[in-house]
Amino acid sequence: MSNKFYVTTPIYYVNDIPHIGHAYTTIAADVLARFYRTRGYEVFFLTGLDEHGQKVQQAASKAGIDPQTHCDRLMPAFKNLWATLNISQDAFIRTTDKSHQAIVQRYLQGLYDKDLIYQAEYTGWYCTFDERFWTEKDVENGQCPDCRRPVEQVSERNYFFRMSRYQQPLIDHIKSHPGFIRPESRRNEVMGFLQKPLEDLSISRPKSRLSWGVELPFDRDCVTYVWFDALVNYLSALEYLAPTTDALKFWPASVHLVGKDILTTHAVYWSTMLMGMERPLPESIFAHGWWTVDGEKMSKSRGNVVDPNAMVEQFGVDAFRYFLLREVPFGQDGDFSHSAFEGRYNAELANDLGNLVSRSLTMLGNFSNGRVPTMDQKSQTDLDRELAKTASDLFPAINRHLGNLEFNRALETIWGLVQLANQYIDKTAPWTLAKDPAQDARLKTVLFHLAEVLRFLTLAVYPFIPNTAEAMRSRLGLTVSFD
Ligand code: MSP
Repeated sequence: MSNKFYVTTPIYYVNDIPHIGHAYTTIAADVLARFYRTRGYEVFFLTGLDEHGQKVQQAASKAGIDPQTHCDRLMPAFKNLWATLNISQDAFIRTTDKSHQAIVQRYLQGLYDKDLIYQAEYTGWYCTFDERFWTEKDVENGQCPDCRRPVEQVSERNYFFRMSRYQQPLIDHIKSHPGFIRPESRRNEVMGFLQKPLEDLSISRPKSRLSWGVELPFDRDCVTYVWFDALVNYLSALEYLAPTTDALKFWPASVHLVGKDILTTHAVYWSTMLMGMERPLPESIFAHGWWTVDGEKMSKSRGNVVDPNAMVEQFGVDAFRYFLLREVPFGQDGDFSHSAFEGRYNAELANDLGNLVSRSLTMLGNFSNGRVPTMDQKSQTDLDRELAKTASDLFPAINRHLGNLEFNRALETIWGLVQLANQYIDKTAPWTLAKDPAQDARLKTVLFHLAEVLRFLTLAVYPFIPNTAEAMRSRLGLTVSFD
């Protein structure tokens, strides 16, 4: 059987239109999906929407419509953006899908039957915004330790998942699987979190407080906690959305991409849920950083939310994809500014790559009738050998970098070759060679090497900037296939 690669993005809340943060993770996942497809892997790439819970219910009631209508209205904003950004997802899940809900209920019932879910009275400090309870020791000055909004004391009948039972097994798993939580700094954070006793997880909400959710199969007065519903998407999609009936073979996921703010829910809640459900844990969970805009936190109230559609309209989709992955090491926080964007756009895309392609094609046209000449071994120089060696080292390096989710380093390496090829043109000066018939063999060799480098680059840039790669492929008359 061929190698499998299963990559997921978080499923996004449909409480507002998508912004740069949503686009970021989805583009990163797309690059991985495209890269592994070109390498012959069987790939399943999942994204979608988290449509239940307080945030969505509140957004709907603000709009004065019922939550389902609200979700249906907002859904195209996400789907259309993914089409605009050239996202090649294999499935798009919505947690209001009937099949998804039935699967969530099946898992809830399974845990309940095994006594891994129990009922208890619960009193605690509740943060409406984060939709979670905090204990006395977490709350400072009556505020949520996470979002700093005021919390209120709430007492209610609740169902709990016996998460505490899995504290030690989870610690052991993290210790024995160094690549499970990445980057390493985040792994340390989760280990730190697990130093404190892990409590059982409340997985229900009384309908009187929140009705917009999946009903508990064993208590019709409650819906399940939105995170229990949402996390199950990574498994449920394989059951009913994948193109093949044996899609469960994709489990465990190769990598869940998440933002740093939702690492705990994935690394701790999801992992322990999976242990309870007797399923293997994902191979890896990677938490990326957050974007600020011109040095400031991005927020609606500041009015600085970056709209991916506007960026694409101004600079094109590939420039946007390129910038997001080139500017900041995945895993670290980064800053978005128009000047940084334009700087990279002009220097690296238009100048470095754009010029290399057009200079090379012009010379192949003018000096070789648009054909790739055969090279002459005898006329090879160290310059050619250096270029060829750098080109042949490129794919192993990209493979290594993308394996570590170091998108920026993969791009840096590719652009290293772009720059070397531009210098090669300057140094070999084919226009001078073309004036001297005695240099014909040398000219052919240079043009051959240039064409070869362009072929390599077309393949190398494809996962990142697929439109550009397509354009290069057709301008070069290449027959290489990307999938
Ligand atoms: N619905 C949950 C995820 C459930 S996954 C089973 C959720 N949705 S969200 O829409 O609020 O957030 C989705 C993602 O956007 C998170 O990974 C979050 O980190 C990311 N980002 C939100 N703002 C961001 C930035 N400013 N920069 C980068 N990513 C950001 O959480």
